[in-house]
Formats: sequence, structure tokens, C-alpha cells
Amino acid sequence: TDEPLVLGIETSCDETGVGIVRGHTLLADTVASSVEEHARFGGVVPEVASRAHLEAMVPTIERAAETAGVALSDIDAIAVTSGPGLAGALLVGVASAKALAIGLGKPIYGVNHLAAHVAVDQLEHGPLPEPCLAMLVSGGHSSLLEVTDVTVGVEPMGSTIDDAAGEAFDKVARLLGLPFPGGPHIDKQARSGNSVAIDFPRGLTSRRDLERHRFDFSFSGLKTAVARWVETQQREGVTIDVADVAASFQEAVCDVLTRKAIDAATSRGIEDILIGGGVAANSRLRAMAEERATAAGIRVRVPRPGLCTDNGAMVAALGAELVARGRTPSLLDLPADSSLPI
Ligand code: KG4
Ligand code: ZN
Repeated sequence: TDEPLVLGIETSCDETGVGIVRGHTLLADTVASSVEEHARFGGVVPEVASRAHLEAMVPTIERAAETAGVALSDIDAIAVTSGPGLAGALLVGVASAKALAIGLGKPIYGVNHLAAHVAVDQLEHGPLPEPCLAMLVSGGHSSLLEVTDVTVGVEPMGSTIDDAAGEAFDKVARLLGLPFPGGPHIDKQARSGNSVAIDFPRGLTSRRDLERHRFDFSFSGLKTAVARWVETQQREGVTIDVADVAASFQEAVCDVLTRKAIDAATSRGIEDILIGGGVAANSRLRAMAEERATAAGIRVRVPRPGLCTDNGAMVAALGAELVARGRTPSLLDLPADSSLPI
């Protein structure tokens, strides 16, 4: 086969990810996470993450090559997340990718983390639908992006004006005494809860807000509403039904996310929505998006949960696409850019 063999490195947050793909075929997706080390702080500590990446990098690359059954010398190109993300964490990935590229004498491609979240879907569902509307929802970002050509970039239509969706899940989970990261625990609790038990606010959906923030999100008011509700119950000595709070909170988040994603797609005549980022693993979000999109005549693609969270395969997938479409590699002075524009 003449499809490019690409190794991708992702270190923008707390996952040291190394993926290897051949074209659209996933050969290895090895992730070492420092999430446990951050758990007691209730959030990712940048310095801890950088150090963990440094320790995990070489063993993770070796494990990925072993899993893929390839020799590093067979790799055609190296792709690496150059931003956005935590500065020190990105630096470890970019420096490692440069070392590999120089050592192997192969081209290096610096990629945008958000575009990589989009490109990963081709490993599961084949060629990307372009144009598509991408909704990226994770602990660090919540954005609606128009994607015309993923190798050129992604155009932001809207994003959160305060907390990211995953951050809201994590903060509410903490309020409810659930472990970090809280998203999966809320998801699980919500299954046995009543989603209409409590009517939590839907951020930026009033007619006035829609004028200025039609495709933007706000989750901090929702988080505060949950905190107040919990406090009130406690003050009145009422036992909190964690499942009901989780289900009602989750319903509010998913309602706004799916409503705005479909509105954004419809407004540009786009017929495919792609969901990525850690929160895309949420079972209610998947079901609601599917149901509402179908009603609007829109198709939805969501990669399997393991590909939605940060990983190296997504970077390799975008790298393979850059090679396949003949894009020019990055220069070896490629910077790690924490505030890389989308
Ligand atoms: O993409 P990701 O692994 O890392 C970044 O933040 O970039 O996303 C992690 C986020 C966390 O906030 C986590 O709580 C959330 O994704 N998450 C979920 C679920 N699984 C992970 N949120 C809701 N429901 C889930 N099932
Ligand atoms: Zn991410």
C-alpha cells in the first residue's frame, strides 16, 4: 500500500498520546494519562502534566510502535499538536516530535488540536463529510466550528463565553461528591435519575442573548444554579437525590448543545454534524443529537468514546490527511503555541 504511515503525538493537556495510522486505518493508539495525579486537585495542574509527559513520552512511543507492529524507521511523517493547549505540556510533545523527525529524517506537521478532534472520525467512519459542522465539547473547549477542508483549518462559529461543557460536568460532579473527572459519573448517575425533576437554566437561549450569542454557550450560570439548589436542599435538611440532579443538569447541557449545533448547521446549509471531545462520550448527548438531527434532516457522526477524548491517533489521522492532500510540512522551528488560533 502507498498510503502514508504517520505517527502522531498529542500532549496538549494531561494525556500523553501516541497514535500510528496508515491512511484511514488505525494501527495503534497508546495513551498514558496523568489524570490520577491531578484528581486530588480537582483539575489539571500544568506543571504536573508537563513532567508526566516527559516521563511517559519515550515509553509511549515505543509501546505504540510495538502495538502497530512497525519499526519507527518505516514512518513516513510525524504529526504533533502544536496548540492550543497548556504551554509546557505542548512543548514536550513538539520537542519530542522534532527529535523524532530529525532522527528519522522525516517531515514534521504541526497540527491544530481542534482540527485533529475532527479528523479522527475518518479512522472510524471513513472520509470526512466536508463541509461539516463540528461540535467540540471537552474539559478545555466547547466550540461550534465550520469545517470546509480540515487540512486548511476550522472556522469558529461560536464557543463558550465562560466554562467549557466538560468543566461544568466536572464542577457539578464535585458539588455532588462524585470523583474527578466527573463527566462519566454524572452520565452514569443520570441513567437512574429524572431529567425533568429540576428545571435548570439553559444558558444564552433567551431571545436577547440569541441576538449576540446565537452560537455561543455559557455554563457557569447553570453550575451556580446547581450549587444553589444543592445548598438550599442541605439547609432545609432534605437528602439530595444525586441521580435527579445529575439527570436534570445533564439534560440542560445537552439541550443547549444540540439545539445550537443544529441551528448552526442549518444556518449554513450543512447536512453533517460531527461531535468530538471528551463530552461526546456522554450517552444522553449522543442520543439527543441523533434524535434532533434526524428530525432536522441532518446526519450525525460521533467517533467511539476512546477516539473522542484526547489521543495521539487523532493527530496521526490529521497528519495522514495533510500528507494525502499534499500539504507542505512544517519547518523544524515549529513553535508550541498555547493560544494557537483555531
Ligand atoms: O477531550 P478530553 O479527554 O480532554 C480535554 O478536556 O481536552 O475531555 C475530558 C472531559 C472531562 O471534563 C470529562 O468529565 C468529560 O470530558 N467527559 C464526559 C464524559 N466522559 C468524559 N462528560 C460527560 N459525559 C461523559 N460520559
Ligand atoms: Zn481535546
